[in-house]
Amino acid sequence: MNSVVTPSVYMQRRAQVAAQLGPDGIALVPTAPERPRNRDSDYLYRHDSYFYYLTGFKEPNAWLVIASDGKSTLFCQPKEIEHEIWTGYRLGPEAATGALGIDAAHAATELETRLPRMLENRDIVWFPFAVHDGIEARVAGWLDKVRARSRFGALCPEQQRDLCMVLDEMRLVKDPHEQDIMRRAGAISARAHARAMQASARALREGRDLREYHLDAELLHEFRMGGSQYPAYASIVAAGANACVLHYAADAAPVKAGELVLIDAGCELDGYASDITRTFPADGRFTPAQRELYDIVHASQEASVAATKPGARFDDPHDAAVRVLVQGMLDTGLLDRDKVGTVDDAIESRAYFPFYMHRTSHWLGMDVHDCGSYLEPAQLNDVTERKDPLSGEIVKRRPSRVLRPGMVLTLEPGLYVRPGPGVPERFHHIGIRIEDDALVTEAGCELMSRGVPVAADEIEALMRE
Ligand code: GLY
Ligand code: MN
Ligand code: MN
Repeated sequence: MNSVVTPSVYMQRRAQVAAQLGPDGIALVPTAPERPRNRDSDYLYRHDSYFYYLTGFKEPNAWLVIASDGKSTLFCQPKEIEHEIWTGYRLGPEAATGALGIDAAHAATELETRLPRMLENRDIVWFPFAVHDGIEARVAGWLDKVRARSRFGALCPEQQRDLCMVLDEMRLVKDPHEQDIMRRAGAISARAHARAMQASARALREGRDLREYHLDAELLHEFRMGGSQYPAYASIVAAGANACVLHYAADAAPVKAGELVLIDAGCELDGYASDITRTFPADGRFTPAQRELYDIVHASQEASVAATKPGARFDDPHDAAVRVLVQGMLDTGLLDRDKVGTVDDAIESRAYFPFYMHRTSHWLGMDVHDCGSYLEPAQLNDVTERKDPLSGEIVKRRPSRVLRPGMVLTLEPGLYVRPGPGVPERFHHIGIRIEDDALVTEAGCELMSRGVPVAADEIEALMRE
């Protein structure tokens, strides 16, 4: 049975949505479909994040309807013993009202007949745009049925609006219930990283053949032992030069002494993602060249942590990290001062881009790259234009989001060194990223993923144990 939840938190969220629908609005929120993998096997089912945020309900084939008077209706799978024998317990509409704090519940098979009647005499119908394949056509079909009843006096909604605009803003600020789950997800993932580090050192000490997938298995073990349902995204376990491939997956490459391993992996716990990256020496000892670059990335991450506080902008941690990385690139000879000039010059020209080509942060929540605007809503009209120094394109820029307590973002600077003209050979094929999950607090930020060490000396000490 997967449906027992504390309904009050979801009831409050539904009430918050209802209050934003306008006097005669109505909102429709489907959960995710089951997806075939091959022949008659499906991918492991994952609910839709918006739907779960408003219900706490994980079964497939369900829709939530919220009316502006605050009444909510659920359509869900009916109780059917012949199906439950094969696919498991269903809550069913009769129990759903009490268990989920919903006002009315019906079998999902009644959606087509009931929904057009529910849309009658409403002025705005809200649903998540561009999230669910075919939803626009289904809504159009229901509106068509409403219109067919106009000669009986039924009014048809005149407007369709994007419910994501409402829900994204709500989800951007995590409430205490969500913060608690995210802290626990971060703790499980941190233990998994520590386990993989220690397993790597142990296997190489014992002279065993160690592959990336062995370390992936260590991560999965700890995720599941901690109660996580599944990884929040495909784990990256990248040995040696593979670390320079940003979206590498855990594959079969040998993990060798003297090389680094980059692991980017986080569990999903009760619908919430964690997202941690650690880079460590496979055998537990950094070489001098690895350590030199590692310390730069670590310092850049610390700069991004210091820049993450209420009132700062979303871009501030990135800008702080880039400044430290660029200084390090100049100090180590990755960038040639005679060619790129000062730190400011290299930032302005984006000369650092071959070694650091991604952003430092993204929102984190139910989705690993969580929803929420990266721009400050009150300043969308403050547009400046700038010529991109690399592409030559004119790009429009708007002020980035002001950070507020309850927002959660990753801090994940890195350095990726591919061989190239003038690139010192001792750094070739080194890829390093360090990633933690930061909850913005009243005072600054709380790192929810620091149960695994990040300083080079502490990683070496852990791997000696
Ligand atoms: N693991 C995905 C990311 O770091 O963005
Ligand atoms: Mn990330
Ligand atoms: Mn990551």
